[in-house]
Amino acid sequence: MKDPRKPIVIVGSITMDLVTRTPCIPAVGETLIGSAFETTPGGKGANQAVAAARLGYRVAMVAKVGDDAFASELLANLRQAGVDTAAMMQTPGSSGLAPMFVADNGQNAIVVVPGANSKMDRAAVDRHAELIGSAGIVLCQLEIPMDTLSYTLEFCARAKVPVLLDPAPAATLPDAVFGQAAWFTPNETEAGFYVGNEMSAEATAERLHARGLRGVVLKRGGEGAYVSVAGGKAGWVRPFKVEAIDTVGAGDCFNGAFAVALQEGKDPWEAARFANAASALSVTRKGAQASMPFRDEVEKLLAEPS
Ligand code: RIB
Repeated sequence: MKDPRKPIVIVGSITMDLVTRTPCIPAVGETLIGSAFETTPGGKGANQAVAAARLGYRVAMVAKVGDDAFASELLANLRQAGVDTAAMMQTPGSSGLAPMFVADNGQNAIVVVPGANSKMDRAAVDRHAELIGSAGIVLCQLEIPMDTLSYTLEFCARAKVPVLLDPAPAATLPDAVFGQAAWFTPNETEAGFYVGNEMSAEATAERLHARGLRGVVLKRGGEGAYVSVAGGKAGWVRPFKVEAIDTVGAGDCFNGAFAVALQEGKDPWEAARFANAASALSVTRKGAQASMPFRDEVEKLLAEPS
């Protein structure tokens, strides 16, 4: 039977992560002996798609892979998670790649080489306009060209589809974007880029609202999340305590789970609690997409006494 729910649609990036595990993040000029190397599916957009799909929601992804050896694995991984890949496109050249170090304490350092993600253009959005316009919510990040991001937000504004924008990796945004995103979900570094560092969460959220943003979620990892709605309620949502071994994709997990919970009718603070639980589980496992939890795991954590 056809799923009657409006889908979550991701317009974004998909990348193969080239992960070197090291005792710590190497300093400039330092040579370290690593403990392992692996290729695992990633990319902020695809990570968010897998997170939402594993939580049992209907998800479709609009993105581009290359025609290299990684493309089929990236697509197969999306399908296996239950993501609708009918709007995935293939383009000549390399898929997106992300060489990275992941240290034993869970910290990471990542370089993104966009590859096919840099070919996400207006035509790709036009080609899948019907799907994007049918979404309950659209999830975007900043790993595709800025022009395409702006075009997607303009389209969604006209189609009255809310957009959750993960402003990562941090980049200068056109002013219009601030008024078009329904939700803006920076981590601490990214929030510092947009409105300055060394402020309380309350002051950071106020500055973001002053730029035109309505819904703000400050992802603060081990501190939890601060959720603020312009002219309305604001407050902290506390984290779940876990032992982190790999934080790659944790923010993406939060975004995917937050979108699922909003679509299911939770208020933003309940949605952030659900997303905190999902992302807490994700940091206890290795890999980006590989670490995304399933629904029953999240429900179990939420039910545990705090
Ligand atoms: O947010 C984590 C992701 O950022 C990684 O999977 C990597 O691909 C980079 O895009």
